[in-house]
Amino acid sequence: MIIGSKLFFFKNLPSTNAEAANLLKTNDLPEGSVIYTNYQSAGKGQVDNKWESEDGKNLLISIVLYPSMINPSDQFLISMAISLGVCDFTKRYVQDCSIKWPNDIYVKNDKIAGILIENSICGDKIKKTIAGIGLNINQQKFLGDAQNPVSLSLLTGLNFDLGICLSQLTSDLDRRYKQLISENFTQIRNEYISLLYRLDEWNDYCDKSGRYKGCIKTVSENGRLQIEKQSGEIVKYSFKEVEFIL
Ligand code: BTN
Repeated sequence: MIIGSKLFFFKNLPSTNAEAANLLKTNDLPEGSVIYTNYQSAGKGQVDNKWESEDGKNLLISIVLYPSMINPSDQFLISMAISLGVCDFTKRYVQDCSIKWPNDIYVKNDKIAGILIENSICGDKIKKTIAGIGLNINQQKFLGDAQNPVSLSLLTGLNFDLGICLSQLTSDLDRRYKQLISENFTQIRNEYISLLYRLDEWNDYCDKSGRYKGCIKTVSENGRLQIEKQSGEIVKYSFKEVEFIL
């Protein structure tokens, strides 16, 4: 086992990603170390958003990785493998799980998990990765301004043991990380693309030229989303260049 080989629990923290980065300044954490907490006072979401999570209700974890087999130009593979691992976990309990590009985990049209990957690149190598995951398990009410949060408990009507969920999640992530180590890149890419939210469906999107109907076709090797417009033109987007109209 790599992911989950060492667990570091804190009752509360500003952010598990920030704590992982702090610990790495003074310690050599083994690969796969998991930093987790019950509560974050400053949980980080994508692009300066805050991550909402009620005390003791959900999984808030950061994993330290040293993915030396990945070239910086292929770093989106890490995001794909982590997204697949979180999806594997959610599929244990619910159906209709998908990955909203780039790495939100959805059940039907609601977001059950968010992922924040922070890579440190040194020359032509990825020196370290901190993969942060917020996975909603037992929270019943979301008070922030997130559009469509959901939890396992809201979806199933059940209450879950967080310790069991953590060990299942780390084992699912470990399996996906081992696929990366074995350089099963094509399999990871194909599975990720097949699980994309709204793949091959016509829906509404908005980019800098306005709102339009489009159909998600694939994701490029460098992680850009490809959407076909009704004119037949394929447009490629980097993160935050396109909005999904929900
Ligand atoms: C998103 O905006 O969708 C990404 C959210 C990532 C949240 C997780 S919670 C654990 C880890 N620590 C953080 O501060 N953020 C990530």
